Amino acid sequence: MQSFPTHKTTRHNNGQHPQDDRRTGASTRALHEGVRRDHAFHSLTPPIVQTAAYTFRDTDALIAFKSAEATERLEYGRYGNPTVWAVEERLAALEGGEEAILVSSGMAAITLSLLLLLSSGDHLIIGDDTYHRTRVFVNDFLSRYEIAVTTVPTSDLKAIEQAIRPNTRLIVAETPTNPFLRCVDLSGLADLAHRHGVLTLIDSTFATPLNQQPLLHGIDLVIHSVTKYLAGHNDLLAGVIIGSREWIEPLRESQKLFGAIVDPSAAYQVHRGLQTLGLRVSRQNLSGMKIAQYLESHPKISRVWYPGLTSHPDHKVALAQMTGFGGVISFEIAGDRAAASRFVDALQLAKIAPSLGGVDTLVMQPAIMSYFNTPIEERRSLGITDQLIRLSLGIEDPEDLLADIEQALEMV
Ligand SMILES: Cc1ncc(COP(=O)(O)O)c(C=O)c1O
Repeated sequence: MQSFPTHKTTRHNNGQHPQDDRRTGASTRALHEGVRRDHAFHSLTPPIVQTAAYTFRDTDALIAFKSAEATERLEYGRYGNPTVWAVEERLAALEGGEEAILVSSGMAAITLSLLLLLSSGDHLIIGDDTYHRTRVFVNDFLSRYEIAVTTVPTSDLKAIEQAIRPNTRLIVAETPTNPFLRCVDLSGLADLAHRHGVLTLIDSTFATPLNQQPLLHGIDLVIHSVTKYLAGHNDLLAGVIIGSREWIEPLRESQKLFGAIVDPSAAYQVHRGLQTLGLRVSRQNLSGMKIAQYLESHPKISRVWYPGLTSHPDHKVALAQMTGFGGVISFEIAGDRAAASRFVDALQLAKIAPSLGGVDTLVMQPAIMSYFNTPIEERRSLGITDQLIRLSLGIEDPEDLLADIEQALEMV
């Protein structure tokens, strides 16, 4: 019988800047980083340890475990699982962090980290263009615990610094954001936050660890909705929090209370999805650039947001810290909501759905998806117009996606 794996990981990248990390390509990294060579039973893949509890041979074995003499084993499913650990090790290594904690969804990653890091009386700064539900949680839920919140433009470092108060504990931002792909200068953000003794947390879902590594710029914690690019197949929900052991260990302890765990089978599917992350993301980067350029030149499109385009307000920042710009493009149809819906309905390959980052191309009008019940004034103040469309490219051939978009635009 092989020894029981532990969740302790080692840092795989000695804090190098991502631009210096040219040792291996994206696909090799996605396939090999953080992957152990000694799975139980000599299995090539991590075995799915599908159990709710772990047994003890006898009372002496139980006492040895409880007195922390036998550390390389487990007691109960909510306290840890070897399949989950195998995925956590991979994600920590890919992101250049010491440890990762896999949780049941991207929202669980956000809520768990914020609830643990913040105490009543603290102040939080958050970027304005963030995932809708993250903002709802921060504005409507955290206020119950007397946590003050200031919302600032995501890419405006000056505004972020000016918002810092003596009780500011944490700055949360997405980069690129959802849906306008705004980017914050990660090194600049980390420097200013550390100067003021404030923690930083980045939602890097849109970038993936292949296109951007916030921890290597000095950011304290990174989260992903694993549901998106990392798992990659639109068939499961999961989230991850990655950082130094100092921050992740207390989160892991809280997880025992919060219980937002991932089922071992879902964890295995994440592992499987990660094996093709490099191929998928390379294709999505390529298609993203091609299609964004095509859309920008089309007379029926009035505006395009894609960080790879020189017209994007944060293009320079994106270029400096990202190695690819991903598969999400937001754009406005020159017309009204009905014109945008005609385009969406005419697409043959893209399916109407609210997610992103997977193998299938998905499309949606935020005004009638995530923001359907948001008061119109609030929606407009966030820039979510009726004719805004978010397209999340899958791994179809770029020429076919382009042809599909071309024919759909003829219907507008
Ligand atoms: C940037 C971002 N973060 C977090 C989430 C939440 O992730 P999940 O749906 O896995 O809870 C989403 C979901 O769309 C997202 O787009």
